[in-house]
Amino acid sequence: MVNVLVVGSGGREHALSWKLSQSELVDEVYVAPGNGGTSQNIPISVDDIDALANFAQEKSCFTVVGPEAPLANGLVDKFIEKGLAVFGPSKQAAQLESSKIWAKEFMKRNDIPTADFEIFDDAQKAKEFVSTYEKQVVIKADGLAAGKGVIVCSNNDEANDAIDKILVKKEFGDAGSKIIIEERVDGIEASYIALCDGQIGIPMATSQDHKRIYDDDKGPNTGGMGAYSPTPVIDDKLSNVIQEEIIAKTISSMSKEGIEFRGFLYAGIMIRDGKPYVLEYNVRMGDPECQPILMRLNSDLYKYLKASSEGKLNDLSEISWKDESAVCIVLASNGYPNSYPKGDEISGFDNIPQNSFVFHAGTKNDDGKIVSNGGRVLGVTALGSSLNDAINNAYNVAEKIHWENKYQRNDIGKKGLSYL
Ligand SMILES: Nc1ncnc2c1ncn2[C@@H]1O[C@H](COP(=O)(O)OP(=O)(O)O)[C@@H](O)[C@H]1O
Ligand SMILES: [Mg+2]
Repeated sequence: MVNVLVVGSGGREHALSWKLSQSELVDEVYVAPGNGGTSQNIPISVDDIDALANFAQEKSCFTVVGPEAPLANGLVDKFIEKGLAVFGPSKQAAQLESSKIWAKEFMKRNDIPTADFEIFDDAQKAKEFVSTYEKQVVIKADGLAAGKGVIVCSNNDEANDAIDKILVKKEFGDAGSKIIIEERVDGIEASYIALCDGQIGIPMATSQDHKRIYDDDKGPNTGGMGAYSPTPVIDDKLSNVIQEEIIAKTISSMSKEGIEFRGFLYAGIMIRDGKPYVLEYNVRMGDPECQPILMRLNSDLYKYLKASSEGKLNDLSEISWKDESAVCIVLASNGYPNSYPKGDEISGFDNIPQNSFVFHAGTKNDDGKIVSNGGRVLGVTALGSSLNDAINNAYNVAEKIHWENKYQRNDIGKKGLSYL
């Protein structure tokens, strides 16, 4: 038996710890710092790599890293140096997410399909480029910007504002010292996540996120307002194309460049005229995609994460998924993704049906009461025999849960139904 330390505090980390605790091989599951739904919380921040390493050493943990920031900060490298078992990509491999410019240049030199782009650090030159470019553009800050550093533009005025925001007003600090200006690709967006061990990548179940705050994909981008799995947007044929032309090629190209990619590789995909383009890479599970994906997983997650960290995914039997659909509805605080109140008491956690689970994200246990403590508060996740059933099951549970400033989208999964 082994102990596990999950690093992070969101819905994704609650789902990872929930699934890992079901493994026959796993004894205790600790979460640092965790949230109001995770049970053995360790009060260490995700930034305090030394303290996390000391804890992992003391309890002989296998460590699983949820979010991108500690990966970009070299948590995995530090743990390996100390001889600690850890799941996730190295700092070098995490550049696929931590520098969008690094990722775009990597894709270009390795012929991985992505939108055309140019790089700028000078606002005047960037604006001159926009004025002569004939297509609509998307402007992206290079570094990590908590999902706010990308501006999809409809005209030159919007593009010029975006350039000023990042390069002149420095709204993202150093993360915005350079920008990418890329062709806007309009199509259908989906998430493709594979578990990699440096040699191979095995696909996770497909999924689709809902990034905008309002129904029908209106309003500003958020961290994600809900997700479902599988998605009809990616059929078997397209899945094979993505697997070969994007996932396998990314792993082998990284390896050719001397970097082993171990961990979850997430390709944000735009499908235009049946052809997939990589919008970005993430080097970890998506949140909320993780919740519906793990609800559908039959296999022992611990075995897979361990094999990924050791370069041994080939030794495992084929991963197994439930045939059912799963839907996760994010319950957020009114005002998110901008400012929102915290500290509201949440009720309605009793009598959750067997086929459902309420994952916590921005919650805190305040002397036995669960209170809101973030923008995205809960991820109500349910299985169903079809996408439609899973949607209904999830909304039935979501209706039971109350707090003063609760907000949810009411159309999660609907865009999937239109492809069936
Ligand atoms: N080239 C593009 N064409 C059209 N939309 C895009 C493009 N690049 C990004 N987007 C949109 O912007 C969102 C955020 O961009 P992404 O590159 O995923 O950055 P991040 O998740 O770091 O904010 C995407 O989910 C997608 O909806
Ligand atoms: Mg993204």
